[in-house]
Amino acid sequence: MAINKFMILVLLPIIFSSKSVVSISNFPLAKPHCREHCGNIPIPYPFGLTEECSLNKYFLITCKNTSRSHRLQAYLMNSIHISNISLDGQIRVLQEIAHDCYAPDGTSVSRKIPLISLPHHYNVNSTANMFTIVGCDNYGFVSGSSFLIDCIATCGTEDNFLEGARVEMGCCQRPIPIETSSLEVRLYTSDNYTKVNHSSKCGYAFVVEDSAFRFSPENLTSLRNVKKLPVVVDWGIMNDSCLEAQRNSNSYACKSSNSDCHYPSNGFGYRCLCKEGYEGNPYLPHGCQDIDECKDPSLHNCKGYCENKEGSYKCSCPKGNFTRDHSPDVCSLLDIL
Ligand SMILES: *[C@@H]1O[C@H](CO)[C@@H](O)[C@H](O)[C@H]1NC(C)=O
Ligand SMILES: *[C@@H]1O[C@H](CO)[C@@H](O)[C@H](O)[C@H]1NC(C)=O
Ligand SMILES: *[C@@H]1O[C@H](CO)[C@@H](O)[C@H](O)[C@H]1NC(C)=O
Ligand SMILES: *[C@@H]1O[C@H](CO)[C@@H](O)[C@H](O)[C@H]1NC(C)=O
Ligand SMILES: *[C@@H]1O[C@H](CO)[C@@H](O)[C@H](O)[C@H]1NC(C)=O
Ligand SMILES: *[C@@H]1O[C@H](CO)[C@@H](O)[C@H](O)[C@H]1NC(C)=O
Ligand SMILES: *[C@@H]1O[C@H](CO)[C@@H](O)[C@H](O)[C@H]1NC(C)=O
Ligand SMILES: *[C@@H]1O[C@H](CO)[C@@H](O)[C@H](O)[C@H]1NC(C)=O
Repeated sequence: MAINKFMILVLLPIIFSSKSVVSISNFPLAKPHCREHCGNIPIPYPFGLTEECSLNKYFLITCKNTSRSHRLQAYLMNSIHISNISLDGQIRVLQEIAHDCYAPDGTSVSRKIPLISLPHHYNVNSTANMFTIVGCDNYGFVSGSSFLIDCIATCGTEDNFLEGARVEMGCCQRPIPIETSSLEVRLYTSDNYTKVNHSSKCGYAFVVEDSAFRFSPENLTSLRNVKKLPVVVDWGIMNDSCLEAQRNSNSYACKSSNSDCHYPSNGFGYRCLCKEGYEGNPYLPHGCQDIDECKDPSLHNCKGYCENKEGSYKCSCPKGNFTRDHSPDVCSLLDIL
């Protein structure tokens, strides 16, 4: 059987886009001598648990025990409960949900309509969240400085669900507009649940991370036990442009030499990202560290000799039974026979 000519290939470095996965290696998360966690929540700089450990007051996290849970919980600016911080420019806020409950005779049992108000530098993400109303006799609105969106949720007056144009059975969802830092949710009922033949006499309204809430009819009753739901919030540094920010190297937040300045698609200021081939925390002086692609089979496809380089890697084929295979970076054993 004919054998292909042996080839010696010295392949160009292949560059992979870096992903700020906060778990892979041991790059520093926080400034030196600063705590990196609140309970089990990682707190990467520019966020920090003291004034010295955070970039400024907008990134100051308070870590405190709540009387009810006896677990450490993280609060942004002492008031906004958060469950997660991502260096990609997002945090998850645990937001109280609004509810409105009635007794069978239509008298109000309990009602709470919390306001969603974020500080400067923070915006509710417009594509990752949904304004949601769950209920059998409810309508409501979400409004910001320049918009008002309505939604109607009903189950019909019989136990069977009613369908209609803007009327959704038990649940109604609408997207949120872009650049929204303050939201007001309002929740009403038409007939105080007096005409609803459903065991639930409560309505709920909230903005929620789309992937964290899939409506099922059980939610008409199960939401009674839910206090908070996650909202995805985008953050940025200051309100400068990258160019303005770079003029003052003291205050410029992208401290790692292997980082770049980017604009978020939503909201304020700028963000820092590690350059391709690097990972870590771009907001710290030596925060972005080289990724050793050769160590992680998912990052390279080199069957020959893999050599890590600053920001990339090199794949060479030794002399012998190796060949270029399918794609240019693959250096695989030649199948003889
Ligand atoms: C939080 O509560 C736990 C259990 O009650 C306690 O052991 C811990 O010391 C408290 N931590 C703080 C920071 O108050
Ligand atoms: C927190 O965010 C990180 C980075 O985006 C993500 O990998 C992780 O799954 C998140 N954790 C939770 C509990 O959502
Ligand atoms: C609905 O409840 C509100 C507040 O409790 C009350 O003022 C109103 O009269 C009630 N309406 C009906 C139709 O029961
Ligand atoms: C309400 O629902 C229950 C059980 O689903 C049913 O037995 C009853 O007949 C209904 N009542 C009305 C007035 O529709
Ligand atoms: C909604 O109902 C589903 C199905 O019962 C349940 O798995 C989910 O946890 C409920 N969601 C909330 C937020 O209660
Ligand atoms: C940035 O925000 C500060 C405080 O709100 C404001 O005084 C300043 O004018 C803003 N700068 C720009 C460029 O928007
Ligand atoms: C919202 O979140 C998504 C997914 O995390 C992200 O791609 C997007 O840039 C964010 N901002 C806006 C305005 O959608
Ligand atoms: C190539 O593989 C064959 C069979 O395994 C072996 O006999 C031969 O020596 C190899 N050639 C080189 C240059 O490694």
